[in-house]
Amino acid sequence: MSVAHELDTTRYDPFLDGSPQMRAVRTVIESVADTDATVLIRGESGVGKDLVARAIHAASSRRHGPFVKVNCAAIPASLLESELFGHEKGSFTGAHRRKPGQFEYANKGTIYLDEIAELALPLQAKLLHVLQDFRFSRVGGRELLEVDLRVIAATNRNLEEAMANGEFRQDLYYRINVVEVRVPPLRERREEIPELASRFLARFNAQYRRHKQLMPETLGRLMEYTWSGNVRELENVMRRLVVLGDDEQVIEALVARGRNGRNGHNGHCSTPQFTVAGRDLKEIGRRAAREAEYNALLEVLERVHWNRAEAARIFKVSYKTLLTKIAECGLTPPLRR
Ligand SMILES: Nc1ncnc2c1ncn2[C@@H]1O[C@H](COP(=O)(O)OP(=O)(O)OP(=O)(O)O)[C@@H](O)[C@H]1O
Ligand SMILES: [Mg+2]
Repeated sequence: MSVAHELDTTRYDPFLDGSPQMRAVRTVIESVADTDATVLIRGESGVGKDLVARAIHAASSRRHGPFVKVNCAAIPASLLESELFGHEKGSFTGAHRRKPGQFEYANKGTIYLDEIAELALPLQAKLLHVLQDFRFSRVGGRELLEVDLRVIAATNRNLEEAMANGEFRQDLYYRINVVEVRVPPLRERREEIPELASRFLARFNAQYRRHKQLMPETLGRLMEYTWSGNVRELENVMRRLVVLGDDEQVIEALVARGRNGRNGHNGHCSTPQFTVAGRDLKEIGRRAAREAEYNALLEVLERVHWNRAEAARIFKVSYKTLLTKIAECGLTPPLRR
């Protein structure tokens, strides 16, 4: 059986065949999967870097081992070392008991270090050291642990620039950049849009028990759009189409978003203020709740053409509460309608 057939399509549903660029990405995935080479995945936000990382793991002989993702931007710098390498009891205030790190959990599998450019310099030095022989000690410990794992790193930042600015160590760059996979932005592989759109349509129709179909004119508009938020943005738009069922409305909102410049080139298109890294678990929970509120508010407000009284009725809250929520989420009506 070829490696291609072993990709875990049921769990990750990766669509990596739709354009020459993604077929090239797939070829790299297949050829590196069974080596233990460190892979650096690069590309704008929302292009599918996580998906590629999972596909590499799923295609490798480590597929039955753990796949551990660490988002280096989402964990406060002061806790990241212990998160990665664990700590011994009493090694710092609050370390009430010994805790293994993600490198230990990933043993026999793959560790995926997302947003690697956000690592602080001292931790970059420690990581480099660990990657040399896969041996390390927990924070505050002496015991030398040895792990057997594959490292995949990802970033949407320009690492060369970060190196030039002294923000990223050159030696670490060369250590992680053994194989580089560049995932191109969606606007450079527009031929994938129909297939991706129909996959998302099927998924959301099933999820929301709808029977939405994609009108040819709508698909035409989707093909023309710039997609600065890449596949994630397309996914969100398809969800909105299924939920709202009104093509005109959704397309109009897209056009307005482009006009308002809300759709920055770093992606995270529909929720720009939630890109700030979380601080702790509570904060991550609060952010997720805010993000859900933001999406729900935006969807309903667009549906009712920003008729706030009607939106308040739909949400079963007072008019005043709704205005507060809108302000909290930083939502503003489109400039022109
Ligand atoms: N080829 C694809 N087939 C199906 N879904 C995809 C594809 N590429 C991306 N997606 C979906 O788009 C969304 C964004 O993908 P992913 O999280 O992998 O992007 P990313 O590059 O890691 O983004 P970020 O830089 O923000 O972390 C996910 O929900 C993913 O499932
Ligand atoms: Mg990602």
